[in-house]
Amino acid sequence: MGGVEGRILIVDDDSGVRTVLRRILSSAGYGVQEAGDAFQALDLLDAQPPDAALLDLKMPGMDGLGLIANLRQRGLEIPIVVLTGHGDEFTSQQVLDAGAAAYLTKPPDRADLLLAVRGAVAQGRVARELAEAEEPPPLLGTSTDVEVLRQQIARVAPSHATVLVQGESGTGKELVARRLHHLSERARRPFVRVNCAAIPSELIESELFGHEKGSFTGAHRRQIGKFVQADGGTIFLDEVGDMSLSTQAKVLRVLQDGEVEPVGAGRPFQVDVRVVAATNKDLPTKVSESAFREDLYYRLAVVVLVTPPLRDHPDDIPLLVDHFTAHYCREYNRRPKRWSAGALEQLRRHRWPGNVRELKNVVERAVIMELDDTIDRVAIAGAPLASGGGESLLDASTLAEFQQTSEIAYLRHQLERHGWNVAATARAIDTPRSNLYKKLQAYGISREEQ
Ligand SMILES: Nc1ncnc2c1ncn2[C@@H]1O[C@H](COP(=O)(O)OP(=O)(O)OP(=O)(O)O)[C@@H](O)[C@H]1O
Ligand SMILES: [Mg+2]
Repeated sequence: MGGVEGRILIVDDDSGVRTVLRRILSSAGYGVQEAGDAFQALDLLDAQPPDAALLDLKMPGMDGLGLIANLRQRGLEIPIVVLTGHGDEFTSQQVLDAGAAAYLTKPPDRADLLLAVRGAVAQGRVARELAEAEEPPPLLGTSTDVEVLRQQIARVAPSHATVLVQGESGTGKELVARRLHHLSERARRPFVRVNCAAIPSELIESELFGHEKGSFTGAHRRQIGKFVQADGGTIFLDEVGDMSLSTQAKVLRVLQDGEVEPVGAGRPFQVDVRVVAATNKDLPTKVSESAFREDLYYRLAVVVLVTPPLRDHPDDIPLLVDHFTAHYCREYNRRPKRWSAGALEQLRRHRWPGNVRELKNVVERAVIMELDDTIDRVAIAGAPLASGGGESLLDASTLAEFQQTSEIAYLRHQLERHGWNVAATARAIDTPRSNLYKKLQAYGISREEQ
C-alpha cells in the first residue's frame, strides 16, 4: 500500500464514501487501506497499525466510538479522525472525549480532510517518538554543583510538585526537565515541551489549551492543546519568563484549578499534568518590575532548581569533552580522537557564555574539522576566563598543567601589551618569532574580542 505521507485506514460501511476518501488521500501521497466494518478494521489494525485511521461513526455491529474504545483497550494509540453524518446525534465533544484527534462532517471538504489527516499523522509520530524515547541523556559532572543538582532532581522527581528550573542559556535546563519526567511515575506518559517564547501571544492560548474548529478566523480544524496532550504526563513550559501577562493569567488558572478550556469549547475540563517550567530570566526581578505575575511565580517556584553556569564548574569540562567527543566521533564515523593537554587547558580557560551547549558545539566542530587523532588546537569565539579571578594557577593538578597554564597566561599578557604584534612580542620576550608562532598555534591562542 506504500504511501510516502503515511498509511491511512478508512473504516466506513459505505463503499462509495470509501472510494471518495481513498481517491483524495491517494492523490495526496497516502497509502490507503479500507475496512467495511469495525471488525475488519481491528484485523487490519492488529496486523499492521496505520499512521492514522478515518472512522465512520455509524456502522452496523460496532460503531465508531466502540471501535475507538476497543483500540484504547488494546493499547493501540492510533490517531483517529472521525467522520460524522449530518443526522448523527453524537456531539463533537463526545467524539473528542472518546479520544479522537479530530472530527469532520460528511462529506468532508478535500482541504479539511487533508489537514485533519496530516495533523493526525503528525500527532501519531510525536506519540511514537515519545513512547520510544528511552532514557534522556545523562546529566554529566562530578563537581559539587552538578552532584547537588542530581540529588535534588532525584528527590523532587517522584513528587507532583511544580518545579522551576532556573539557569543561564545552555546549562541543561531542558535536560533537567526531561530527567524529572523520566524519574517520575509519569515516565511512560507524554512529556510535552512548549516554547513559550516562540509562540505569538495571540496563538498561545489555542496552543496551550486547544481550540474548536471555527472558533476564530483560521481555526480550520480542532486543535488539541498541549495541556491536553500532556494529560497524565509532564508539560514543560520552556522560556516561561517570556510569556505575556495575559497568557500568564491563563496558565495560572490551569495551575490553580487543573482545568483547561479550549477556545470556543464553552466548558472547561480537567487535566492531570505535572508542570516543569524553565527560564534564563531572573523572575524575581521581573516580578518586582511587574512584568511577571507574582502569584504565578509562587505557583511555579514550589521547588527551584538551579543549573550552574559552566564557568563555575570547569573541572567537569574534561569529562564533558570526552563524552561529546566520543558521541560525535560515532555520529560522524571518525576514528576515536583525544584532546591534547594544551587544547583542554584552552577549553578550561574559556568563559563559556553559552555554557555546555557552546562546549558541545566546539567539540562537534573540532571532531568534524580535525583530521588527526589528536585535537590540539581549537577555535573558540569569545573571551577567555578573566585571569586573576577564581582559579589560581597554583591549583593546577600537575606540573605540566601548571607550566602550560602559566605559559598561556604569560603569552596572552605579553601579546596584549604589544597590541598582538607577534614580531614585537617575540622581540620583547626574547624568543624567536617562529617559536612564538608555534606556541600560539599549539595553544590555539588568538586575539579574541572582549
Ligand atoms: N551536565 C550536562 N551533562 C551532559 N550534557 C549536558 C549537560 N548540561 C547540558 N548538556 C547538553 O547541553 C545542551 C544544552 O542543554 P539544554 O538544552 O538543556 O540547555 P538549556 O538550559 O535549556 O538552554 P537554553 O536556555 O538556551 O534553552 C544539550 O545538548 C544538553 O544535552
Ligand atoms: Mg532550553
